[in-house]
Amino acid sequence: MRRSIIAANWKMHFDMERAVEVARQMVEKVKSDSEIIVCPSFVFLDRLSGIFLNSQIKLGAQNMCFKEEGAFTGEVSPIMIRGVGCEYVILGHSERRHIFGENDVDIHKKVVSAIEHELKPIVCVGETLSERNNGKAFDIVERQIVSALDGVDLDKVVVAYEPVWAIGTGVAADNKTITEMHKFIREMVGDVSILYGGSVKDTNAKELAEIEDVDGFLVGSASLDAGKFSKIAEEFDKVKGGK
Ligand code: PGA
Repeated sequence: MRRSIIAANWKMHFDMERAVEVARQMVEKVKSDSEIIVCPSFVFLDRLSGIFLNSQIKLGAQNMCFKEEGAFTGEVSPIMIRGVGCEYVILGHSERRHIFGENDVDIHKKVVSAIEHELKPIVCVGETLSERNNGKAFDIVERQIVSALDGVDLDKVVVAYEPVWAIGTGVAADNKTITEMHKFIREMVGDVSILYGGSVKDTNAKELAEIEDVDGFLVGSASLDAGKFSKIAEEFDKVKGGK
């Protein structure tokens, strides 16, 4: 179902003390009609789950293993993250794809497993700069979506379009690029919520929210600051909140 979502991807930031502090500030500051999700490092999930318990903030993990349990040293299973209160899990983030070598097959297995374990995957897709410059952006995103969502109930997923070249740069993709790509993705996934990610800030959130097929944001750097993150949700709500 298509609805407004603002998700925080904390990546590999903070220590426990700071994670708790920012989580508490978020509970205090974020008042939104949209679904609010915070995805901290695995090691903070259990603690933050208690902090978010009576708030509107939902918890998500940043990755998971496709297997339930067994001899998989260093991995974290869907049962484990579900058990500490996660409702969401980010899958196929470009840093997983490009730094840790996850491919479309791995990501599809994780998406299927997440749904089996009643976790809602936020499936990230997006092209690199060279793919875009070579005219391959639409082919790449199509391939990533078709593969990740093969045979999957679309009611159970969220998609995030994150052009790799806009992540962590401070400069979001331009409106035309986002408009075209979200429309293209919409044609493939219908009523699924499609988030935009890549340098979303409190200062550009309103403009980005105005793009027709943008149903919310996946926010990295600016989500490390509770004030900025709550402002992003506020700006989004002014345009599209409550849908
Ligand atoms: P950014 O990261 O907001 O820092 O660009 C977004 C993401 O990687 O999800």
